[in-house]
Amino acid sequence: MSAIASHKCKNLKGRIVVPGDKSISHRALMLGGIAVGETTIHGLLEGEDVLCTAAAMEQMGAQIERPSESGGVWRVYGRGVGGLSEPTETLDMGNSGTAARLMTGLMAAHPFSTKFSGDASLNSRPMARVTVPLEQMGASFVTEDGGRMPMTVKGSDQLMPIEYTLPVASAQVKSAVLFAGLNTAGITTVIESHATRDHSERMLQHFGATVETEVMNDGGRRISVTGYPELTGQAVIVPSDISSAAFPVVAALITPGSHITISGVGMNPLRTGILDTLIEMGGDIQFVNECEEAGEPVADIVVKSSNLTGVVVPPERAPSMIDEYPVLAMAAACASGSTRMDGIGELRVKESDRLGVVARGLIAAGVQLEEGEDWMTVHGTGSPPKGGNMVAAELDHRIAMSFLILGMASDQPITVDDASPMDTSFPGFADLMNDLGAEIK
Ligand code: S3P
Repeated sequence: MSAIASHKCKNLKGRIVVPGDKSISHRALMLGGIAVGETTIHGLLEGEDVLCTAAAMEQMGAQIERPSESGGVWRVYGRGVGGLSEPTETLDMGNSGTAARLMTGLMAAHPFSTKFSGDASLNSRPMARVTVPLEQMGASFVTEDGGRMPMTVKGSDQLMPIEYTLPVASAQVKSAVLFAGLNTAGITTVIESHATRDHSERMLQHFGATVETEVMNDGGRRISVTGYPELTGQAVIVPSDISSAAFPVVAALITPGSHITISGVGMNPLRTGILDTLIEMGGDIQFVNECEEAGEPVADIVVKSSNLTGVVVPPERAPSMIDEYPVLAMAAACASGSTRMDGIGELRVKESDRLGVVARGLIAAGVQLEEGEDWMTVHGTGSPPKGGNMVAAELDHRIAMSFLILGMASDQPITVDDASPMDTSFPGFADLMNDLGAEIK
């Protein structure tokens, strides 16, 4: 473990590109691996989570060429729907809940056993949310106590299509069921009462699957996929990850005199809740060069430092910014007045108990707050807190990066005990922030 500290910096200036979208990167490798022919992927996130997905797809017979072998792009030669082969070894999903849950859906519809494992964080996360619907379809599972990994998926190519209402708003669970539905006769349907990120639906259509989405009167969605599509290899362009862009956005807002541009960021409306919230707080955030690339909206984000004011973030916004609450809490700690975040119990089962870890770290930095099972209120004073504390990252990349952002504005440096988890989603985070003017070392 190597510790890393963020010191108060002057201002942030310049234009940067943050790494590719993690959600889209996983899906591009998976769908490329079950399509027929060549898929090219530009801008793939080369973080550890996504590299686990690439290695797993190779273990099951997909052929993958890295950019070093194929001139700047990743190339995937897939096996066709239902065509993956039985892996001889356990699939190591590292730290990645998305890789584990989406691959579980894929493997549930293959007629052999696949064993999944991960690091201590992933092996403590709930998997019943995917095994329950997949068991209804006909797959079976051997898990550790409490439905945790390591886990063996006993799949079948004779699954039954189901209509499944998600008990928790989760794009991972939705995607697992839809991916299982690809190698299942008939129509598999997922109903969600709060819309979650729709990258799977968009990319499935891009590869040639029939996916129908009905927006219901209450704002929920009914998403159906037709089994046995002929997926063909495609060109995929991965936009920069809005979840990674959120770190420099908040950094520029809370560091006086800053003015930065982040180029080519994915602006899928089911992901942009953090920007809506920061703008409501008074953040000076503009969008330029708006366009669409491979079925996903993209824009450059221009941010200037701003005096932020506390707001109430409604629970229905949670799915569109679920990974951004830790960094929002850092912005709230520097704002005037209180910021209340409701309906965020899911944060307790992410890479760490993000609600608890954020609360403990902010209190140690001198911030006043209250926390409940599924809510948190952060009391800002209009100036950054004193800082000077050490935060345990608990194998959680977004916790590490969030507190390093706060350290850029706090009076005393903030130290994170372990820099390595940041590589799961944002390789080069410290160098890129330092290029803008941060002092992270
Ligand atoms: C993701 C969905 C979200 C998110 C995760 C990525 C995805 O998880 O937190 O980082 O790519 O589908 P849940 O589905 O558990 O909300």
